[in-house]
Amino acid sequence: MRGYQLVTGSSGVYQAEEARISQGVVEADHTGYSGAGFVNLANAAGSYAEWTVQAGAATGATLDLRYANGAALDRPMDITVNGIRIATGRPFPPTANWDTWATSSLPITLKAGANTIRATSTTVDGGPNLDRITVR
Ligand code: GCU
Ligand code: CA
Repeated sequence: MRGYQLVTGSSGVYQAEEARISQGVVEADHTGYSGAGFVNLANAAGSYAEWTVQAGAATGATLDLRYANGAALDRPMDITVNGIRIATGRPFPPTANWDTWATSSLPITLKAGANTIRATSTTVDGGPNLDRITVR
């Protein structure tokens, strides 16, 4: 039994197309995504997707971010949890094409109640396409 409960979403899966999006659009013109589509972040620094994750108690967890990067260069993003930056310029390296998805995982700390997880593009190329996060 985990020390926390994820109140929204099922199995701790949170689709990107259901996130709050700043400078980005939901699209489905590539294959291999889960849910109804993915988020194409604007190719600009500062574009982001943000999710709210409910935890029943404070706990450590693992954040999986599923993404595609069909470009030739890394598409770095900062990751914040409750406004605290826990990853700076995380690279999100190329995945061969926009139909090929990879998962980038990192440890996070959740507080009891609502937690805000945000992934923000840090370069003019914007972040990768985002499919979903899983908190486990
Ligand atoms: C292409 C691709 C988009 C992607 C974009 C980018 O236009 O179709 O899904 O977001 O490149 O470079 O970010
Ligand atoms: Ca884009």
